[in-house]
Amino acid sequence: MHALTHAHTSHRRLPLMLAGLTAALMPWLAAAQFTQSPLPYAYTALEPQIDAMTMELHYTRHHKAAVDGLNAQIKTYPELATMTIEQVLRQVSKYNTAVRNNGGNHYNHEIFWKVMAPAGQGGKPSEALDAAIKAQFGSMDEFRKQFSAAAMGRFGSGWAWLVVTPDKKLAVTSTPNQDNPLMDLPEITVKGTPILGLDVWEHAYYLSYQNRRGDYVKYWWDVVNWNEVNRRFEEAMR
Ligand SMILES: [Fe+2]
Repeated sequence: MHALTHAHTSHRRLPLMLAGLTAALMPWLAAAQFTQSPLPYAYTALEPQIDAMTMELHYTRHHKAAVDGLNAQIKTYPELATMTIEQVLRQVSKYNTAVRNNGGNHYNHEIFWKVMAPAGQGGKPSEALDAAIKAQFGSMDEFRKQFSAAAMGRFGSGWAWLVVTPDKKLAVTSTPNQDNPLMDLPEITVKGTPILGLDVWEHAYYLSYQNRRGDYVKYWWDVVNWNEVNRRFEEAMR
């Protein structure tokens, strides 16, 4: 009788036990929330503008460290497990420095890999983007000049960006370290949706270009994937 009662009780408790087990496993299940998209080309694909060793170290070490660091913060902020990286960054002021640094780094690199393609395979600006660039900057040359100047003018580590601002205009800006224009931080003066981003940390170019950031920026234009920039522009303008 006792055994029967016990079995009956256990049976009734099974769903509760399973729920408890799932809750206990959640940190591990959630730990893979943020993941690196596969690199859309081989490490060698952007040579000679960007060498294979730089690409491999950059993707497998620098970017991966950011993803691991961000996932580690799910323990501190469980809600991150159900958020997109864009949602996290738009309210990053609520979180600690590790979320800001690793979240920014992850998002920035996700964009960076996608807005590059082997030279000759990146297409060209769409009619709509071309018109918007000419309306905002006067000419494509002037836009490139301003973007390159933003990349060169960023002291130390950081990023240059072309963004669509909340009023649907284009703007060139740059951010320090791993910050970006999505972040709700007072020091991000130009806010918007990035459609093109350039990593000017030394780890992005030092093996081939050493200290010559200017050469890196100049040759980087050869590997811009305009097809992806066009797609991002259309999406941001909706
Ligand atoms: Fe980087």
